[in-house]
Amino acid sequence: MKALVLSGGSGTRLRPITHTSAKQLVPVANKPVLFYGLEAIADAGITDVGIIVGDTAEEIREAVGDGSKLGIDVTYIPQDKPLGLAHAVLIASEFLGDDDFVMYLGDNFIVGGITGLVDEFRTEHPDAQILLTKVPNPTSFGVAELDENGRVKGLEEKPKEPKSDLALVGVYLFTPAIHEAVRSIEPSWRGELEITHAIQWLIDQRKDVRSTTISGYWKDTGNVADMLEVNRSVLETVEPRIEGTVDESSEIIGRVRIDAGAEVRGSRIVGPAVIGPGAVISDSYIGPFTSVSEGCRIDDSEVEYSIVLRDSSITGVRRVEVSLIGRNVQVTPAPRNPAAHRLVLGDHSKVQISS
Ligand code: G1P
Repeated sequence: MKALVLSGGSGTRLRPITHTSAKQLVPVANKPVLFYGLEAIADAGITDVGIIVGDTAEEIREAVGDGSKLGIDVTYIPQDKPLGLAHAVLIASEFLGDDDFVMYLGDNFIVGGITGLVDEFRTEHPDAQILLTKVPNPTSFGVAELDENGRVKGLEEKPKEPKSDLALVGVYLFTPAIHEAVRSIEPSWRGELEITHAIQWLIDQRKDVRSTTISGYWKDTGNVADMLEVNRSVLETVEPRIEGTVDESSEIIGRVRIDAGAEVRGSRIVGPAVIGPGAVISDSYIGPFTSVSEGCRIDDSEVEYSIVLRDSSITGVRRVEVSLIGRNVQVTPAPRNPAAHRLVLGDHSKVQISS
């Protein structure tokens, strides 16, 4: 069995973070979202992995390399334009050959991995198996309609009037039957070859398409609250470990990971929290559910329930909460007089000011 991982796409829903970074590399508990998927694939015993890359190819290649550090063997498959998920299968047909495969969307996050699902698929071997989950906003997804026996009756892509609240999760298990399906469909209104339509084609051909409904699923919705929430749930499982240095006047409480080269001075860190390699935390409070990435500096500040990306600094500010802070950002107090906010914000930024 092989895996096809999709890491093209521009990530408009996560702007401004994705103006400068691939959406699949947005970190959760200091690890790119894509890596959780690749690890889940490796855990399921799949090593032959094709990664579809688009405009952000270089960045993805730099992060993943040949895959050996994740225990997989990666083949990169460039997609010139984001022409749809079924188009990705089409251009990967040479790589996929006659093998069964799991297709995994690189921006999806599935709590608990995919090993059970892959094992079930290997044993039962239907023509295709999809994953579903209940969502509050089905119009933003592919949506499935099931019959009274729980069989998939029909699928619609981003329907205006959804027939259920069961969304297609971005993990699909396919036999080579999908190849004829992706060759047989026409582009949708958004100009993409939709995998949803290809699976519908299989259903129309009376192929055996099964579904499993899961909980514990997250997809980027542009909603920072969602990102903070998935970060929270992953931090709850982080292995507490102190590899960096913590001075005597600091206090570390609960589930906290401090990576090598990080330095904590005169500070209190209440987990779950992770402090990335080389980060410096001084005279500060880091509260629960916070990820501070590598190379950050937090000085004389309080940060809680937030994600701070690489090489950013927060100095003399209290308190930062429920925030997603990008890379190389500087947050400092404004001069006392005149009392004014001074902002340099990128396109699509969102700021909430407490005054
Ligand atoms: C794609 C699929 C959709 C699925 C979703 C899951 O949507 O088209 O059916 O529910 O992934 O992440 P897109 O990310 O292209 O909006």
